[in-house]
Amino acid sequence: MPIFTVSSWKETGTVAQARAWVNSLAKEIFPLVKGKEIIVLPPFTALSAVSKDLKQLNLPIKIGAQDISRFEEGKHTGEISAVMVAEFASYVMLGHSERRSQLGETDEIVAEKVRLAKKYNLTPMVCVSEIPQAEALKKLINDFSDLIAYEPVFAIGTGKPDTPDNANEVAGQIKSIFPQARVLYGGSVDGSNAKEFTQQKNLSGVLVGNRSLDPNFFLEILKNV
Ligand code: 13P
Repeated sequence: MPIFTVSSWKETGTVAQARAWVNSLAKEIFPLVKGKEIIVLPPFTALSAVSKDLKQLNLPIKIGAQDISRFEEGKHTGEISAVMVAEFASYVMLGHSERRSQLGETDEIVAEKVRLAKKYNLTPMVCVSEIPQAEALKKLINDFSDLIAYEPVFAIGTGKPDTPDNANEVAGQIKSIFPQARVLYGGSVDGSNAKEFTQQKNLSGVLVGNRSLDPNFFLEILKNV
């Protein structure tokens, strides 16, 4: 089973910055890829350029988007649909706590997006910050068998990660709700703590924000998972 190592850029990165990130990984990433599924989640505007550059450099990194529209297509100004994202990406993150708290994303919306993601062959990576969210999703998407990221709000962007033991415990509870899913941990992961998380029995990888923006720090994480 590969160790998932995911870099999410949130609302960061012009096309030029995204291309520079990809190009700086090119020199050092090859010895670090064995046994890993490396996924980058740039902003929508950089998906095309990142996809082209990864192909050209033949880098073993998959692309994901940070969201999709809850609507399939049509009169939804400003939205970006699953089929549009699927031109560039194979994964999509859904239900991040920042979208839930800042943009009113609900479990119902997340469930609609999961359905659309699957319809267009995007592998969903659904974020939950606590067990009740996983339980609410279970009622809406019964047979979820993809990726779930456990991201406790107190650990996101604070430099204060959850303990590996607690993350493992919560991941175990998530797996009892969704037995087929693989669970990742996210929240203040860096090169010094990544391995403690990926070594846990119930965790299949890490989802990294801040510490993955600098390609050198991301390489450190890849060396240590
Ligand atoms: P940080 O790694 O910056 O804490 O962010 C985690 C996160 O929210 C990834 O989705």
